[in-house]
Amino acid sequence: MKYVPLGASGLGTSIYALGTATFGGSTDEAEAMKVLDAFVEAGGLLIDTADAYTDGRAEAIIGRWLHNQRAHVRERMLLSTKGGGYTTTATLNRWGNTRHNLTRALETSLRRLGVDCITLYQAHTWDPLTPLEETMRFLDDAVHAGKVRYAGLSNYTGWQLQKSVDLADTRALARPITYQAQYSLLCREIEWEIVEAGRANGLGLLAWSPLSGGLLSGKYAPDATPSGPARFADRAERGKMHDAYVDALYRGHATREGTWQLLKILGEIAAARNTTTAAVALAWVAARPGVSGVVLGVRNSRQLTDNLQARSITLSDDEMERLTEASAPRPAGYPYGSFGAMQRSRGI
Ligand SMILES: NC(=O)c1ccc[n+]([C@@H]2O[C@H](COP(=O)([O-])OP(=O)(O)OC[C@H]3O[C@@H](n4cnc5c(N)ncnc54)[C@H](OP(=O)(O)O)[C@@H]3O)[C@@H](O)[C@H]2O)c1
Repeated sequence: MKYVPLGASGLGTSIYALGTATFGGSTDEAEAMKVLDAFVEAGGLLIDTADAYTDGRAEAIIGRWLHNQRAHVRERMLLSTKGGGYTTTATLNRWGNTRHNLTRALETSLRRLGVDCITLYQAHTWDPLTPLEETMRFLDDAVHAGKVRYAGLSNYTGWQLQKSVDLADTRALARPITYQAQYSLLCREIEWEIVEAGRANGLGLLAWSPLSGGLLSGKYAPDATPSGPARFADRAERGKMHDAYVDALYRGHATREGTWQLLKILGEIAAARNTTTAAVALAWVAARPGVSGVVLGVRNSRQLTDNLQARSITLSDDEMERLTEASAPRPAGYPYGSFGAMQRSRGI
């Protein structure tokens, strides 16, 4: 396992982090325990969760797993959770980044996880209604109360990241160390601005959905879905909210021109290296500038073992270039496209 700094914090983390959004959903508790054991066995350090995942079941499963670990494992793990995001039980004031909601959410997360302190506590998403200072002060207070070690942000745009960091700096509040964003070979639009905003401020990027929900595992074809259970196949088990979310986040990628050509290239590289399509796709994310963690999502421990093959892959310059070129997002309009880049480069 490769270890990298978690943003500019001085903390070291495993480049492959473990996501847990499936725990208590498509991954039952017994399988989740196996996934967690395999992750630790492989040298993994950062476990990412959220109060919103499976209505708290994911955090509770992690808490029970942690409880059964020896002291040195408990002490070594980096726990990352989030508050403020939508849950299916969200009501008017049980959503958003108010002090009111985040206080409740953090206390609930600490209880479920069975810990006194969470390594990284993230605002799950931007809140347009709550004054930003209230949210940043909440995070700072949580750090000073010893309930949280570091603050992070998630699903923010470039200006939202910048404004948050500036506010933290000018008020001497805890400075966020990371931001989470969807980032994969099929979702690169954050490169237009958000990646730069993150790097300019020393925020580590925690890349979520690095396989675009499984599309980059290579198990889908243009006109067929996998025979076994799969996120984009077994839709009957989900409620309307989740279907809309899945559609909004990923479905467009499957129909985008170039996706299947990209998968063909991934398959060729994987075959030449005797590894899996997924492992190559993950290794590409891990090698991108500013990435502090590739947040793996799995249904079971077999998928985790497959995906952790990425640990031993360092893509050559040529392979990186092939993939980067084949996955280039549609040309960005002004001010992000070539005209804007030319204006900002001063031709140097
Ligand atoms: N900050 C945020 O707002 C946010 C949002 C989303 C996720 N996240 C975090 O990011 C983590 C990862 O997201 P994600 O689950 O969407 O990641 P992903 O890697 O894009 O997708 C994971 C899914 O792909 C399929 N898969 C993975 N490996 C496979 C393999 N080797 N062979 C075949 N299928 C495979 C599995 O689904 P099936 O088997 O069901 O097909 C698995 O659940 C989450 O757990 C969460 O911690 C954060």
